[in-house]
Amino acid sequence: MKHINITIDGPSGVGKTTLANITAKRFNCIHVDTGAMFRTFAIYFDKKGTDEENEQAVCAELSNIDIGIKYIDGEQHMILNGEDVTGLIRTERISHVASVISRYGNVRDELLKLQRKLAAENNVIMDGRDIGTVVLPDAGTKIFLTARPEVRAKRRYDELKAKGKLEGAELSDIEKDIIERDFRDSHREIAPLVPAKDAVIIDTSDLSIDEVAERIAGEIHGC
Ligand code: DC
Repeated sequence: MKHINITIDGPSGVGKTTLANITAKRFNCIHVDTGAMFRTFAIYFDKKGTDEENEQAVCAELSNIDIGIKYIDGEQHMILNGEDVTGLIRTERISHVASVISRYGNVRDELLKLQRKLAAENNVIMDGRDIGTVVLPDAGTKIFLTARPEVRAKRRYDELKAKGKLEGAELSDIEKDIIERDFRDSHREIAPLVPAKDAVIIDTSDLSIDEVAERIAGEIHGC
């Protein structure tokens, strides 16, 4: 049986995860957050002290890393070598390491297998950077979200502040990091951040979460 595959791609802080969660509940799919997978790898390298800029050193460690995914009350949990690291993955440091290591082909290949397996076995809404272009090019609905960098920085700032995870960061630092990560994610050689030719592009800068959720739901047919 062919499963329903819906993709949501876009840059950092655009609201992919929140919107994929809402849409997954509405259409009874599981939400696969692929950024969380890269972040889980990043936790390993950060803990181990591996220089994330050293591709050889990073790739030499891959065989020691086992990444699992578990759903508890509908929420995705990331398991790193048997340990649930979900609560650790959303810091600015881990965002940086994840963005750097996601350039490496061997890292991407490891996760590609897991991502395609999940999509083959479940009805999924999968969010990331290359889901519509590389991971699930035959998906039935493809959404690409954008928003101005200053809007995304403000959203990320408010989110970190609400969680008490600002770690002294200023809004301007967060905006600078977002612009740097956008550049790295869109200019890398393998699977760069670009909309698929058949993706519906939604600029969320001046829309509420509910408005974007409605627009996405309007694009989903046959569920
Ligand atoms: O969506 P996010 O901010 O949690 O993703 C963290 C990093 O992982 C991001 O900077 C780029 C990388 N990533 C990727 O290269 N491909 C994906 N499908 C998802 C994330």
